[in-house]
Amino acid sequence: MFEEKISERSLATPPSFIRSILKATEQEQTISFAGGLPNPISFPQEAIKESTNRVIDTFGAKVFQYAATAGLLPLREYICNRLHTKYQMEIQPDDILITTGSQQALDLIGKVFINKGDVVALEKPGYLGAIQAFSQYQPDLHAITLEEDGMDINELEQVLKDKAPKFLYVIPNYQNPTGISYSDEKRNQVLSLVQQYSCILVEDDPYGELCFEGTPKGYISAKAPQGSILLGTFSKTVTPGMRLGYMIVCEEGLRKRLNTAKEAADLHSNIFSQYILWDYLSHNDIEVHVEKIRMLYKEQCATMLSAMKTYFPKNVSFTRPTGGMFLWATLPQEQSSLELFGRASKENVVFVPGNPFYTDGRDANTMRLNYTNSSCETITEGIRRLGQLMN
Ligand SMILES: Cc1ncc(COP(=O)(O)O)c(C=O)c1O
Repeated sequence: MFEEKISERSLATPPSFIRSILKATEQEQTISFAGGLPNPISFPQEAIKESTNRVIDTFGAKVFQYAATAGLLPLREYICNRLHTKYQMEIQPDDILITTGSQQALDLIGKVFINKGDVVALEKPGYLGAIQAFSQYQPDLHAITLEEDGMDINELEQVLKDKAPKFLYVIPNYQNPTGISYSDEKRNQVLSLVQQYSCILVEDDPYGELCFEGTPKGYISAKAPQGSILLGTFSKTVTPGMRLGYMIVCEEGLRKRLNTAKEAADLHSNIFSQYILWDYLSHNDIEVHVEKIRMLYKEQCATMLSAMKTYFPKNVSFTRPTGGMFLWATLPQEQSSLELFGRASKENVVFVPGNPFYTDGRDANTMRLNYTNSSCETITEGIRRLGQLMN
């Protein structure tokens, strides 16, 4: 009855077909490689309980009151100090806007930058939450092929030259959905190209801390914070339930606009959670905590890779992530991962077929597999069943 009253913007963002079928297939007995959930055993429940009591005892009513849009200053100072120590980033607490998860940052970026028809460049395959967030503002999305070591640089240059995108959205560390990380060479090339073509770099980094092999590479934007927006989150290192992320925007005029867009969206992110998170981070060694998560995911990833080697047919290829939460498998060209999904869900195993990670709605032969939310035994059994179906 209300359909004809719905805005074009909303009509341009249909709910994800894949999400709805996943919801329907995920039962208690299902082995799910579909979600992007951190392992619940990584949540620091006891320490957060202590922090909750401490902030109420120390700050009283303040933790329950309305607060500033930019976010809690001590939390912004903490983020600033950590990025300075780890990556020598020359930023100030005022350059930081606390957001309701980095997902909100993606929406605010869409709101502030995109007029209908504006060109936005991103990775192919790309993060489906970003595709959804940007799509609300009806951009002309140009997806650039992701190779084993990062974006195809020739394609990127062509898009920058021919289409002049307003911004380029990238996830250089353990990308969602592929688990791929950019090489140093590609990072430098991306930076010099966006600078050459005056394109804003939007760098999203939810997984950079989850490096379980080799050394973390940090941020492309650490070298050029003025021309970039860097997104971070506490979802994968502390808890996603608090919904706390941040964006680093050094350009003052742009930051004010993002701040206004955020004010209109939710006035500020949950201040109670911000106090608790800041207290937790100040009283605990986050490095020790994250190291435990890294070791856990390293084992789960190795288990999945080894099961894939054993059970998947030789014509199925897959990425070998050195961090993060996902890997990406490619079936032979003529096969459909959606068709495989249909058969696998009857065997109580689910994954995300590649389709929603592309902007052209193709029937893909690719699939995303999450390894962080199942035990090693379950991973092996799920991959064995998938291998059988592929064969
Ligand atoms: C690449 C990427 N960006 C952003 C998000 C959103 O994270 P959050 O809103 O929990 O910070 C996710 C979540 O999985 C993600 O994978």
